[in-house]
Amino acid sequence: MSSTPSGTSSPVLNAGSALLRPYDPRDEDAFVRLFQDPEVSRFVGDGPQDEGEDRALFGRIFSSVYAGNRFAVWAITRGGAVVGHAELKPSPSEDVDGWELVYVLERAHWGQGLGTEVARAITTFALEQVGLPRIYATVDQQNARSIGLLERLGYVPVADRHEDGGKVIKILARTPHRDNSQGSPHST
Ligand SMILES: CC(C)(COP(=O)(O)OP(=O)(O)OC[C@H]1O[C@@H](n2cnc3c(N)ncnc32)[C@H](O)[C@@H]1OP(=O)(O)O)[C@@H](O)C(=O)NCCC(=O)NCCS
Repeated sequence: MSSTPSGTSSPVLNAGSALLRPYDPRDEDAFVRLFQDPEVSRFVGDGPQDEGEDRALFGRIFSSVYAGNRFAVWAITRGGAVVGHAELKPSPSEDVDGWELVYVLERAHWGQGLGTEVARAITTFALEQVGLPRIYATVDQQNARSIGLLERLGYVPVADRHEDGGKVIKILARTPHRDNSQGSPHST
């Protein structure tokens, strides 16, 4: 695993129509609601888990991640309301030697370009402010929406991970200066 770069606490990031900010303990119900939607959590981590596990996970953001200044975990907000979740963290996977981004939105906010804005803001932060040489994403190959979005932002597939049960995870990577979207999520 790469050594921990400096500057990877959770600074406020402007992502176009959204703002990424550190979580506040009062965000717990919004966090749990987000991950209790099985369509949202289908391709995140090990998939949907019960509400108690999501509440415990929320607690660990404060007790472990923020307390140890380990990596970035953000609430994605729009008009003050929490509409999603994002991370920039050392990959927990042995086959990824570097940092990866995670981004998750409430279903009501899909398809409006918000995911593109968030992924672009985190990518710029990682490559230009933190100074990482490369940023990764690990995406279920069935998650075509996320793969398409990342490829438009200049991520390229670098490997496939074959998991038990036939699941295939695509590993994508982005280095500096490779944004193919030219400012619009609809550009090819
Ligand atoms: C992946 C995810 C974050 C994408 O967010 P999103 O806001 O829907 O993404 P965008 O709107 O930027 O782009 C997605 C699609 O909407 C289209 N789109 C972009 N702007 C649009 C607009 N203004 N109006 C309508 N559609 C638009 C994009 O062209 C793209 O089209 P495609 O699905 O044909 O590729 C969201 O679907 C999500 O939270 N999924 C569950 C969690 C998850 O899988 N996270 C990723 C784990 S790797």
